[in-house]
Amino acid sequence: MAELNIPRAHSDSWYDNLATIQRGYYYPWISTIGDRNGEDAFLEHVMEQLHPDTAVLEVGCGHGELALKLAPHCKHIVAYDRVRSYIDLANQAKAEQEISNVEFACYDAMDSTHAELALPVVADSIDLIICRRGPLHWIADARRVCRNGALIMALNPMEEPIPAWSSKLPHKLHYENSGRHTGSGSIHQSVENRLHQAGLTLHSGWSFDVPEIFSSPQDLYKMITWGLPLEELPAFDDIAYKFDAIFNTFAEPEGIVLRHCRFLWQALIRD
Ligand SMILES: C[S@@+](CC[C@H](N)C(=O)[O-])C[C@H]1O[C@@H](n2cnc3c(N)ncnc32)[C@H](O)[C@@H]1O
Repeated sequence: MAELNIPRAHSDSWYDNLATIQRGYYYPWISTIGDRNGEDAFLEHVMEQLHPDTAVLEVGCGHGELALKLAPHCKHIVAYDRVRSYIDLANQAKAEQEISNVEFACYDAMDSTHAELALPVVADSIDLIICRRGPLHWIADARRVCRNGALIMALNPMEEPIPAWSSKLPHKLHYENSGRHTGSGSIHQSVENRLHQAGLTLHSGWSFDVPEIFSSPQDLYKMITWGLPLEELPAFDDIAYKFDAIFNTFAEPEGIVLRHCRFLWQALIRD
């Protein structure tokens, strides 16, 4: 079988490619996500923690949408991401919304030129670290930057079942190559391992698994091709018949149903 020239989903080169395809980090398809899903729970949970004197660090903030939403409810937020165009968009939105208590930084804590992994804030300055769908590298430096009693709260995509229709598509368009696929490892285990290595323990974690419904072949195509190099892909019109066949065979009355799975977790920092 020919080698696929496709960056690993959520690698640096995958994000760099995505930043050339769309303005900011978002899901470009339309779908309906079931109630009581992990994304809504994360937002509710974070909001409950915010007070006028809370200092927040957001890791992997994308184009800053979450930080700008939370800013009116806390004292100060430092939010960073390694993709320059995301931070430019975030600063633009910050100016438009006239928000002054968020500081966006273009920063890569994993940059190999750093002597050691270091979050871009001073020691003992943070009450709450948040990370929505982002990486886990930062856990290693969380204890240094947090005040005693601080909280870490994060949401990670969790392994989802590979749909039976995936194999009906050309290899490049298999579900496993899409940005949605998280790999087969346990995110729960990865989080626990990272926390353990940083001298921290999981305080609590919740798994969310709700339906996500795609009601059109175009939106299913957008999901499956998301973040892949456009020049490597068949155009939708050339492959629409395959997606129509998938809908004819596998759709439920409301559309194609996938699982929307998230792991929401928190850890407490104690001296
Ligand atoms: C899945 S996206 C989530 C973005 C945003 N938190 C959201 O919920 O829309 C993960 C983000 O983490 C950023 N990221 C990944 N590795 C990073 C690193 N080493 N340093 C800084 N940002 C990183 C990516 O550029 C990307 O914007």
